[in-house]
Amino acid sequence: MRKPIIAGNWKMNNTASQGVALVKELAPLVTEANCDVVVCVPAIDIPAVSEAIKDTNIELGAQNVHFAEKGAYTGEISAEMLKEYGVKYVIIGHSERRQYFGETDETVNKRTLTALAAGLTPIVCVGESLEERETGKTEEVLFTQIRDGLKGIEDLTKIVIAYEPVWAIGTGKTATAEQANETIGYIRKTLGELFCPKCAANVRIQYGGSMNAKNCKELMAMEEIDGGLIGGASLKAPDFSKIVNFDK
Ligand code: 13P
Repeated sequence: MRKPIIAGNWKMNNTASQGVALVKELAPLVTEANCDVVVCVPAIDIPAVSEAIKDTNIELGAQNVHFAEKGAYTGEISAEMLKEYGVKYVIIGHSERRQYFGETDETVNKRTLTALAAGLTPIVCVGESLEERETGKTEEVLFTQIRDGLKGIEDLTKIVIAYEPVWAIGTGKTATAEQANETIGYIRKTLGELFCPKCAANVRIQYGGSMNAKNCKELMAMEEIDGGLIGGASLKAPDFSKIVNFDK
């Protein structure tokens, strides 16, 4: 049984005090959740949000982690720093980081291995661009991202994968539930071939890209989809709570 995981990715939104207000509004709305509830917040919000979610069922995630343990990496944040504030999850290789900050499958792999070694749960993002989908390269792109980004992982079930088609992010264009299910099915099949079939059957794979209170039920009803990584709709407590409560 794969427990669903609904995670908000706030991206570069919410100051610490705004973030605290958001989780305080959210907490009473998600107490009956039958899934893992996570908010991935800007690094500087982590201390305040960590304090604000104590005694709730909301868990904390970061949006990136550096691959070195510590050292001369100006502007970066280590796994140990995140752990000290009770961070459990960390998004790695989001398409915005690949697109704007030079993230590659190699750096994704290094960050993922470091996060795992520190006991964090990486949420590793993969996904194709519109051009890649339209030219029939989706599977090829995903195969490479999985093979290179996840190289050397011993226990696949310790990570979460987020399938986020780049063309669906922030565009209001969701992949259809069938499209998302089929592509996530391909990801799972590939994981079975590259790692082991049993781990592939147990790894949680989220869908991300314009998921919202309206379309979440249909997406979550699909067999391969184990959760969502939600951007825009995670910034309003009523909207995000509806996604968390998709099964109600
Ligand atoms: P939107 O939900 O705003 O499309 O963002 C998706 C995303 O990138 C989550 O990581």
